Amino acid sequence: MLKGKNAVITGASRGIGRAIALKFAENGANVAILYNGSKDKAEKVAQEAAAFGVKAKAYACNVALADACKETVSEIIKDFDGIDILVNNAGITRDKLALQMDENDFDAVIATNLKGAFHMIQCCYRNFMKKKYGKIINISSVSGIMGNAGQANYSASKAGIIGLTKTIAKELAGRHVCCNAIAPGFIETDMTESFKENEELLHMIPLKRMGKAEEVAALAVFLADDVSDYITGEVIRIDGGLAM
Ligand SMILES: NC(=O)c1ccc[n+]([C@@H]2O[C@H](COP(=O)([O-])OP(=O)(O)OC[C@H]3O[C@@H](n4cnc5c(N)ncnc54)[C@H](OP(=O)(O)O)[C@@H]3O)[C@@H](O)[C@H]2O)c1
Repeated sequence: MLKGKNAVITGASRGIGRAIALKFAENGANVAILYNGSKDKAEKVAQEAAAFGVKAKAYACNVALADACKETVSEIIKDFDGIDILVNNAGITRDKLALQMDENDFDAVIATNLKGAFHMIQCCYRNFMKKKYGKIINISSVSGIMGNAGQANYSASKAGIIGLTKTIAKELAGRHVCCNAIAPGFIETDMTESFKENEELLHMIPLKRMGKAEEVAALAVFLADDVSDYITGEVIRIDGGLAM
């Protein structure tokens, strides 16, 4: 389905980003796997992706840093001969009640989750304009839609992602670039490790289970594929009904 397309996935060393990279590769896309600290894990994802017969390479890139994004994107454009799909997935949490949240906790989460996506979009902007084609997928969260106590920084970053998504969708629509957001609920990854056994939380989810990274990846494949060419500026929840 994505045969011959070149995809860049941030935060692809683990969790949802890893699942998206592998599902894209399985569907024929070449994948640039971006990571921050987990070099070995990212290299392993690249190896697993390459086993599907596609080109796959890992790149260290702290998305919070504009210069790092710039250097990495130009390296990828050289290595892959252009970018068709960008997935802004890298994200962190630093949860605390707003009263106890210090400025560093707030800034770090905004810098990675929101500015990181902006940096990557800005670095890929000309590439998409030139191609007159592209798919941008930003990973938001139900926290950005509903808010969540203890996540003032994270919810603000994920709500910001929704505004960013709609703005870029409008700016690039004339160039046949679609930009959409995925808003997951609770998905089983390192980020939600402490929630796994939380019965109270599971009770709040109408489908009574956490989601799997592979389920988010399947939705990302749909949004990256040409079948969804008429969808842009949309936010799709994948949350077992949590935010309905
Ligand atoms: N899991 C959920 O329930 C859930 C729900 C809603 C939304 N989300 C969103 O989905 C995305 C992926 O979450 P996840 O659960 O898969 O998280 P995860 O397992 O904790 O993985 C986070 C990924 O982001 C990367 N990362 C962190 N900081 C980075 C930075 N400054 N620059 C580049 N990469 C960075 C990590 O790279 P390293 O390993 O190299 O550090 C890692 O690959 C995040 O945006 C998260 O907010 C997750």
